[in-house]
Amino acid sequence: MINIGPVARPQFTNKLVVFLAATAAALLAMYLFWSFESSVRALLEQRMGANPSPSPDTIISIVKLILIGSLGYLFVRGLNFLFFGLAFRFKRIDAPTLIRNIFTIVAFTIFFLIAFTFLFPGINLGALFTTSAIFGVILGLALQDTLGNFFAGISLQADRPFQVGDVITVGAERHMGVVEEISWRAIKIRTFTNHVVLIANSNAAREPIEVCPRDNLNARLVFFNTLYSDSPAKTIHVVREAVREAENVSTKVPPVVRIRDLGDNGVDYEVKYWLDDYAKFNDTDALVRQRIWYAFRRAGLNFAYPTRTLYVDRHSAGTPGDGGALVERLSAVDIFAPLSIEETGMLAQAAVRHVFAPGEMVIREGDPGSSMFVVHNGRVRVQVNENGRPRTVATLNEGDFFGEMALFTGEPRTANVVALEETEVLEIGYAAMKQVFDTNPNLVESLSFIMAERRQGLAPQPDTDTESTHSSKSLMSAIKRFFGLSQ
Ligand code: CMP
Repeated sequence: MINIGPVARPQFTNKLVVFLAATAAALLAMYLFWSFESSVRALLEQRMGANPSPSPDTIISIVKLILIGSLGYLFVRGLNFLFFGLAFRFKRIDAPTLIRNIFTIVAFTIFFLIAFTFLFPGINLGALFTTSAIFGVILGLALQDTLGNFFAGISLQADRPFQVGDVITVGAERHMGVVEEISWRAIKIRTFTNHVVLIANSNAAREPIEVCPRDNLNARLVFFNTLYSDSPAKTIHVVREAVREAENVSTKVPPVVRIRDLGDNGVDYEVKYWLDDYAKFNDTDALVRQRIWYAFRRAGLNFAYPTRTLYVDRHSAGTPGDGGALVERLSAVDIFAPLSIEETGMLAQAAVRHVFAPGEMVIREGDPGSSMFVVHNGRVRVQVNENGRPRTVATLNEGDFFGEMALFTGEPRTANVVALEETEVLEIGYAAMKQVFDTNPNLVESLSFIMAERRQGLAPQPDTDTESTHSSKSLMSAIKRFFGLSQ
């Protein structure tokens, strides 16, 4: 991978060599000037005539002030390094650039004022500053922006809304990058195309700033879609598993996959994931999309593309090609075992397929009902309300059936039936059942027996064979009556 991080800074030793060389040069210059001061004065007096203005003494003092000032500047830089560079590091604290700059400015100003009073004892600096209104105006105008930046920088340091290493997005222009420095003048950020952007502190103070702190779990959203024929429960599971293992996706919070919209071309999803290192979100987004693509391939899921779907609704499950699977499913249901292949085929033709999401209710206790269901794929739970709390009485798997009680007796539904996972059921209505009972009345007997057993499970009752046979018989005659069969 190409490293687009900040360019390496000059080595510490290089800086030290430059610093020492500059100090030596300043000292040498001072030594030479002080040694040849009288010769320089004589030369100036000779060149400048009788009443020179400014006087040679003033010129010499100004040069001295410049030389002392240079040395003073180097001295302050040295102090700055000793204090912030070494002492702070020793305590493992990184001093903010702005604080270092303020230190340099204040220390140098004090040094300069002392040198000035020493070299120009006749000039009262206080009076000069207070009486010079023009000086004040000029200074104020010249420093307007600088002071604005300076004070905005101070407030940034005080508030600390972000720090070096955080990813920020600033203003309407949406400058986004990693903060590299917050100085007395500007915030320096490195964009994800390795450009450096400087944002003046006073601008930053006026603009909205979005901050993604470095030591925070920042999230991203990646969008994708599937065809309507792909199951949401499967898609959500497949994508969550694919994304959670991608590099830089935090293991602290599992990714969230959810449907955003039922779009024109397909089901629109988003996956929300949290990053260990937010500064690498571009790479991680790309990796997440790649993982989704491969996971789709393996799971047989399909991305949606602009399509127009033409449905011919035959209002039945009997789509050509899968009729065989339905007949197979229904003939494996124990109560339909006595049926011939033609009779089972009749039921399969009449059956209507429904898919329920995990947690969805297929049947609600107390509702009227005139159909029964066979679990084709998935699992359901049968629950009854007991003193306002649900009690599970059974879990039904593929090939099991439910909803027969209301269908065969005309009474309201006796329990809630809830999908435990994505579940496909086959619904069989009264008309289809009547047709089957007419051709195969033996079915009523086996059905009545199972229904009697289920009824016993609904309410605590004495569980004896005699009771069960008794209620099975009364159910059988109830069913025969309800379906108009001979007793
Ligand atoms: P119905 O009363 O139409 O609707 C709720 C269904 O839950 C009911 O038919 C039965 O099919 C099913 N049911 C009720 N009790 C049990 C049980 N103990 N075991 C399995 N299924 C049951």
